[in-house]
Amino acid sequence: QTIDRAEEDTVAVHIENRIAWVKYNRPEKRNCMSPKLNRQMTRVLADLEFREDVGVVVLTGEGSAFSAGMDLQEYFRENEQKGLWATRKAQREAYNWWERLRWYEKPTIGMINGWCFGGAYGPLYAVDIAIASDDAKFGLSEINWGILPGGGASKVAQELMPLRKAMYHAMMGENLTGKQAEAQGLVTESVPHDQLKARVIEIAEALLKKDANALRATKWAMRRMVEMTYDNAEDYLIRAQEALNGFGGLAARKEATKQFLDEKTFKPGLGTFDI
Ligand code: ACO
Repeated sequence: QTIDRAEEDTVAVHIENRIAWVKYNRPEKRNCMSPKLNRQMTRVLADLEFREDVGVVVLTGEGSAFSAGMDLQEYFRENEQKGLWATRKAQREAYNWWERLRWYEKPTIGMINGWCFGGAYGPLYAVDIAIASDDAKFGLSEINWGILPGGGASKVAQELMPLRKAMYHAMMGENLTGKQAEAQGLVTESVPHDQLKARVIEIAEALLKKDANALRATKWAMRRMVEMTYDNAEDYLIRAQEALNGFGGLAARKEATKQFLDEKTFKPGLGTFDI
């Protein structure tokens, strides 16, 4: 299908009830990531990050794909024809928004609605919580067309999956279903396709009720600690909590403690306090 999509139409955004739905919007190309799409995604994420009417960002795809990875025509072939600097520029445009998403100020959910290949593992890793459709298909297909899983994709598999599973996944180029991806650690959870959106909304609404500063500190701590020894993590967490206090964390904690101990209006073991 030849659709000459304008750069600003490669990503669709819809905000409803403080949830921003960010959609890869090249369904006719199975949402593969072209330089145009990567540039537009950078703009969209920058715009949403500090908006007061957005509390959670959901990344998903229009049509049958989450994302079929990098665009073999516009990202690879066209840039290779132009030379190394064009390739480097295109890499920067892609990696930039994945990095921003990894360290996003707001909680993020990936709604993996369909095909998810290669380069799409970058954003898959970047989102805080990944909910897949049972019908989704996950693959490191790079080996099937003669390259190694670059752009972080190998690292994502090694980081999230047991090594024996990651190795097989990368070498064989076979696809996993949503349920298999869940069992091997690639996604948080996989649900029947017709329940996917409802489950994502349920999680988003639960996140919206939590203290936003504590959530941000928590998700950043989880990622930072991947590379820390126990002692460094222990120390980092003390400092992160003290930094959180500077964002109103102490007042929030006092209020929550009062609601539990004095007013008896909630139990922290069973739900969240009233912010
Ligand atoms: N790059 C460029 N074009 C793509 C890509 C891609 N990654 N994925 C799909 N398209 C295009 C197809 O060329 C086709 O274009 P056309 O209509 O102009 O012919 C269109 O999208 C639809 O694709 P189909 O293959 O017809 O769709 P189908 O639903 O039958 O299959 C599937 C979907 C399985 C995702 C298939 O398109 C596919 O294998 N895509 C490539 C997946 C892949 O290996 N991605 C690269 C990973 S490696 C990396 O990202 C570094």
